[in-house]
Amino acid sequence: EIPDAHRTDLMTITRFVLNEQSKYPESRGDFTILLSHIVLGCKFVCSSVNKAGLAKLIGLAGETNIQGEEQKKLDVLSNEVFIKALVSSGRTRVLVSEEDEDAIFVESSKRGRYCVVFDPLDGSSNIDCGVSIGTIFGIYMVKDDHEPTLDDVLQPGKQMVAAGYCMYGSSCTLVLSTGTGVNGFTLDPSLGEFILTHPDIKIPKKGKIYSVNEGNAKNWDAPTATYVEKCKFPKDGSSSKSLRYIGSMVADVHRTLLYGGTFMYPADKKNPNGKLRVLYEVFPMSFLIEKAGGQAFTGKQRALDLVPTKIHERSPVFLGSYDEIEEIKALYAAEG
Ligand code: AHG
Ligand code: MN
Ligand code: MN
Ligand code: MN
Repeated sequence: EIPDAHRTDLMTITRFVLNEQSKYPESRGDFTILLSHIVLGCKFVCSSVNKAGLAKLIGLAGETNIQGEEQKKLDVLSNEVFIKALVSSGRTRVLVSEEDEDAIFVESSKRGRYCVVFDPLDGSSNIDCGVSIGTIFGIYMVKDDHEPTLDDVLQPGKQMVAAGYCMYGSSCTLVLSTGTGVNGFTLDPSLGEFILTHPDIKIPKKGKIYSVNEGNAKNWDAPTATYVEKCKFPKDGSSSKSLRYIGSMVADVHRTLLYGGTFMYPADKKNPNGKLRVLYEVFPMSFLIEKAGGQAFTGKQRALDLVPTKIHERSPVFLGSYDEIEEIKALYAAEG
């Protein structure tokens, strides 16, 4: 038998998605083309991240984005890479990026049926110290051939047709759902191909890890504070949970997906809507977590039911293992 490292029948991400799409007789191959452009963007950013220190890509770009955050050089570069890759695919119509104040309406000659919302570089504060960062994307499909409008992207997350992220970590991993299961692919740098390494990911039903920026604890609401207290001092005889918090949503959610547990960015007194952005952070990650069997909750409702009214809108989010989020929902329900 030939060992795994010398497999000869490679399930690349393109082959995998072509197989999946062939189940839909109406499929025209547009999604596969769009995805291959996203994959190219991920490979480009991955290679830039790997040589950031050498290529002088570390540090600030000198501009501030609409969120009032100072943009890093890699934020700006990754944004350009993805916009160019998406527009040139000829399959997109409206694009929303964390780094651009306004949505981008693709010129008519390059227009397609898909709208892509994305966080080109997630975890910017971790760039300069070499900690895992990523890219997050969500994809909507527009039905008819009308002129593009903001309403094409101001849709609840449950309407997404696909979502994913790429993590630039100890290896480069792309996790994708096109609406059925969730699958993970690892970049083989020698081939330049993403290979299926994590088929049909299911999040464990319970978790032993909680993940939250506890530095904000003094401003938390009561359900968040109670849940975290229970993680540390359980009263039902169970053992206390471990805390893991990287500060890159992609990396924190990736760990949560594989190991189980909860990832939270709650509301607090200073930020009643939390920090994370609905369209390109909360929605894609909630979509993946649900498709893997977990839940995502805002403190008020299922995260994917939110109807955004602004493209850079924020929302609190609690996502992770099914049973853990059930517990958080009960705490909010008890509060009334
Ligand atoms: P971005 O780097 O795309 O602006 O996102 C940063 C986000 C997210 O990655 C992470 O979960 C969160 O900020 C961390 O925030 P705190 O530093 O407030 O914990
Ligand atoms: Mn940012
Ligand atoms: Mn982000
Ligand atoms: Mn970002």
